[in-house]
Amino acid sequence: MSLYSEKVMDHFLNPRNVGIIENADGIGEVGNAKCGDIMKIYLKIDDDIISDVKFETYGCGSAIASSSMATELIKGKPISEALEITNKAVAEALDGLPAYKMHCSVLAEEAIKRAILDYYKKNGVPYDEETFANVENGDEV
Ligand code: FES
Repeated sequence: MSLYSEKVMDHFLNPRNVGIIENADGIGEVGNAKCGDIMKIYLKIDDDIISDVKFETYGCGSAIASSSMATELIKGKPISEALEITNKAVAEALDGLPAYKMHCSVLAEEAIKRAILDYYKKNGVPYDEETFANVENGDEV
């Protein structure tokens, strides 16, 4: 059996939603200190709905596949649903990641949260600090 699922390979080789959004409503960037990989997510938000999302990831195949799947999971969804996406949900949607690659999916969860926090801050929207406790400070996950 191959180390990676077909879905991981598909999203790695044909990533969805790659690129940037000019004048994005929220941008979230995270990095992992150990591997040095970086992920950046751009959101366009209309009436609390994520109407568009793009990503740039400088990282391993699992990080690219995780970003691609995460953007597919949140596109067209309300912010409240995007905030519930966990790294486990991203990994499950990819039919699993090897244990030592789970941290790659964490980047996706954190980048989404950070982009939403950026949107809230730019627009003076009150937010629950607890929801963002792990992304509020520091650049590394
Ligand atoms: Fe670091 Fe995948 S090895 S994000």
